[in-house]
Amino acid sequence: MRILAIETSCDETGIALLEGRKIESDSAQPGFEFEVIDSALLSQAALHAEYGGVYPNLAKREHEKNLPVLFKKFKEPKKYGSFDAIAVTNGPGLEPALWTGVEFAKKAAKEFGVPLLATNHMEGHLLSSLVKDGKLENVQLPVLALLISGGHTEFVLMKNWFEYEIIGKTKDDAVGEAYDKVARMLALPYPGGPEVSKLAEYSRNLQNLADKKGLVEAKPTRGTFLAQDFAEIKLPRPMIASPNCDVSFSGLKTAVLYALRDQGGIQKFNLEARAAVAREFEDATSDVLVAKTRRALEQTGAQTFVIGGGVAANKHIREQLQKMIAQDFNEVEMRLPELNITGDNAIMIAEAALTRALSGKNDQADDTLRAIGNLSIQTTTAH
Ligand code: KG4
Ligand code: ZN
Repeated sequence: MRILAIETSCDETGIALLEGRKIESDSAQPGFEFEVIDSALLSQAALHAEYGGVYPNLAKREHEKNLPVLFKKFKEPKKYGSFDAIAVTNGPGLEPALWTGVEFAKKAAKEFGVPLLATNHMEGHLLSSLVKDGKLENVQLPVLALLISGGHTEFVLMKNWFEYEIIGKTKDDAVGEAYDKVARMLALPYPGGPEVSKLAEYSRNLQNLADKKGLVEAKPTRGTFLAQDFAEIKLPRPMIASPNCDVSFSGLKTAVLYALRDQGGIQKFNLEARAAVAREFEDATSDVLVAKTRRALEQTGAQTFVIGGGVAANKHIREQLQKMIAQDFNEVEMRLPELNITGDNAIMIAEAALTRALSGKNDQADDTLRAIGNLSIQTTTAH
């Protein structure tokens, strides 16, 4: 079966054509195999950088401009053959942006006389993150997913295929949003997550170098690398001890703001001092996510743990989670998404739609399909 998928929930315009089939096996669990025939992705990040974040109406305008351009090549039947359905992200995301994809997909489905399938963006992140070498197979249930992106931070439990329960989430900012805001405070460009992470790594490398050279003996704190006038910045780990799987990042972000202000503002910070702040912030986010993941695994008895969403590309968070699982939950299989699909893309939408369609659980839509900005993965039912 072939599905053409369209993704426009935020600031990436994505189209992908995938072929999928069921893998027959003796296992009680279903298996699927995917082949990416072709995919196209246009990022608007550079345009939004000027605003320090995604500007919804600009995103809508750009998607409207980009979609027909990207779609053109997929229309060549000689090269690509036909497809059996069109899948489109109808939520969650920025509504003006989502509508562009939904309306475009409606027209295309009519033009090609194929069914239209509605796909949940978070289900796309979750299922695609479980795929290894093009195969979604041998998944032991229940699955615990930590979905971390610019708009979401949630622990989702999948007890049965396509049945989701949110067992914990952020009370305020998403973790990616906190990275983007802290990046702005550190005078780094949008999207800030990768930039903060690079700076944090620079600080860790400096520390390692100092350890090797024995500098740490003389000055034991990481303040070693701060210019003389700077005090070491220590940030809170919000809600780390609360007896649930909820998180909060708004206070952490504000703590960074005050810490910078207390020491004379960012213009007073040299590179090493800024790097030390980035590192402490990254440590705080990963400490909280690791502690809450431990709690969620204890609470659910999940057999598989997976992370998905843009922040799932964060090297430090990946490593810290891996370390904790290897130490304390060696019966749990951890799956890490390949880096090319952590950010928003249409391949993940095609994989989720194919998994459903090949299981007879597709969300068939018609002309009444709406974009729903706050669509929850929990309401995504198995038809
Ligand atoms: O899933 P995604 O592409 O879009 C949404 O659905 O929100 O996630 C984008 C978010 C942005 O906030 C971006 O700064 C963050 O993911 N991000 C990272 C990293 N790469 C992307 N955050 C931390 N570390 C990274 N390496
Ligand atoms: Zn996303």
